Amino acid sequence: MSDERLLNRRRFLLGAGGVTLAGIAAAGAALDARASAQAGVRMVALGQQPAGLPVSQHAWEQTMARDQFGNAIGPSYDRLIMFDVRGRPTPAYARLLESTLRRLERTYAWGPAGLLFTVGWSHAYFKQVLGVSSPVPQAKALSDFELPTIDDYHLCIHLACDDPVRLEAAERLLVASLAPALRRRETRTGFAGAGLPAAHQHVGGIPAGDPVPRDSPLFMGFKSALKKNQATEQAVTIPDGQFAQGTTMTVSYMHLRLQSWYQDLSYAQRVARMYSPQTTPADVSRFTTDARSNPGQINQAISHYGVVGHSQASARARVNGRPIILRRDFDTVDGGLAGLHFVSLQRTIEDFIKTRTAMNQSGAQLINPAVTETVNNGINEFIFVLRRANYILPSRAQRSFPLLPGRAAVL
Ligand code: HEM
Repeated sequence: MSDERLLNRRRFLLGAGGVTLAGIAAAGAALDARASAQAGVRMVALGQQPAGLPVSQHAWEQTMARDQFGNAIGPSYDRLIMFDVRGRPTPAYARLLESTLRRLERTYAWGPAGLLFTVGWSHAYFKQVLGVSSPVPQAKALSDFELPTIDDYHLCIHLACDDPVRLEAAERLLVASLAPALRRRETRTGFAGAGLPAAHQHVGGIPAGDPVPRDSPLFMGFKSALKKNQATEQAVTIPDGQFAQGTTMTVSYMHLRLQSWYQDLSYAQRVARMYSPQTTPADVSRFTTDARSNPGQINQAISHYGVVGHSQASARARVNGRPIILRRDFDTVDGGLAGLHFVSLQRTIEDFIKTRTAMNQSGAQLINPAVTETVNNGINEFIFVLRRANYILPSRAQRSFPLLPGRAAVL
């Protein structure tokens, strides 16, 4: 919430019939915290950290339930909160952030039934705030048919759990307590899981008539992230160096335009575009842990069928039979439009670039003019990337203002 909106909300809460004391207190605390920002950030008490938390911030899977085939069931709701650092950070900034994160860890158990989160730091944080070289490159456009705005936020906190009200409370706590050190610039919200997309389908980008299948976990009508279609957490973990036990994260915001997806294509044609033209609807109903989608038959897909599958093209980036990115994407209706927040973890940003480039299948038109960069080419025709950014997710011990001089002495 911007400063002005915060003030308006305070006025609204004070003037409205349904005044809540908690609401007033929350708005008041945020304003007070902001006032103290002008006076500098105080050195707060660090607080206890619960024992037994994983070393890696991105180690979420052990806490997740499994379906009957052993696929991890991710959290149902997500939030991405983007902040900038106010002014020149001091070690007190790191202490304030660490103390607030520990408070979240004490309040909510680590897991979808409590709260999962990661703190990621961008190229802009390292270059502009600290003036050091960045462990992640600036994001960029990765195909000829996209022109994303590259975000310049300093950090991104990803919150996830099974209760959207808890996410809201956690965000409120973060924004209010961190206000002296961090300015919230944007929040993105979303959901993933059977039934949620159908319940949110009355938005721009989805045609009338409730086309999203009632039990689908994603707007496009298919289940994603079977376990062998994902890199493991271990595989995306940085093994050594300053960011050992961390990982990198790419965050893209995409609009979905699914009019022709649902109105012009049959289910079998959607299967061809999502998986491969050699995949049948019967195959899809039998997928358990891997929808490999015939990457070795991509030339036949192009020349004989004139259609390339999304999973088929993406699987070309596999190394030793496994994808090199771990997808933690979720659908959204931010701004009243169907969309996808594509959160991807990988050991290096280069792994994301390789995978996203494989998804373009850009040479296909030379073999068959019917397959352009977007037409008959996976799901490229239906997704529009608006924004993109890269972050590093340090280990839990390094998550608060990584590389800030003097941080180690106060944490
Ligand atoms: C609306 C957007 C998207 C939807 C609905 C979607 C859906 C799917 C589905 C259903 C699969 C089949 C296998 C599985 O995960 O169980 C898949 C695989 C995959 N997708 Fe996507 N996807 C989307 C966007 C993207 C983007 C932007 C990327 C970026 C690189 C991507 C990368 C991958 C990868 C790497 C695989 C696994 C390939 C393999 O098995 O080796 N997807 N996707």
